[in-house]
Amino acid sequence: MAIRYIRKIGDPVLRKKAKPVTEINPHIITILEDMAETMYLNDGVGLAANQVGILRRLVVIDVGEGLLELINPEIVYEEGEQIGPEGCLSIPGVFGEVKRPQKVKVRYLDREGNVKEIVGEDLLARALCHEIDHLEGVLFVDKVIRFLDKEELEGVKEV
Ligand code: NI
Repeated sequence: MAIRYIRKIGDPVLRKKAKPVTEINPHIITILEDMAETMYLNDGVGLAANQVGILRRLVVIDVGEGLLELINPEIVYEEGEQIGPEGCLSIPGVFGEVKRPQKVKVRYLDREGNVKEIVGEDLLARALCHEIDHLEGVLFVDKVIRFLDKEELEGVKEV
């Protein structure tokens, strides 16, 4: 495994749409493992492949309930709304309130190629939406309702 450099806002790769993974091969697994290592090292709760310069639909998330590896994730259901603080490892030091669904269901492939679904609420729903946005070239600052000052932040982690 290896730590990958996290691309920062202004890098065009963050604005591109990632392509679906068509074959889950050892290269894809290596990217997923590197992304997880990079996310943990940077104390994030999620990372999308665009953020390490790879335009494939790959996401890792850990909101404190264990590592999720998502290949070709898509939101198939959403419900309710929540407004809460968000940050991004590609936009260090910037935080803002973003409206997200309270609950989402996401369909994806696991590393064995099995079709899986996960239902996420609260922070997990937020992280899923944030990372899937990355795959579309969308950043949370595009959706921010109000930027937050440092004093307003309490334990907000970047995704
Ligand atoms: Ni992000």
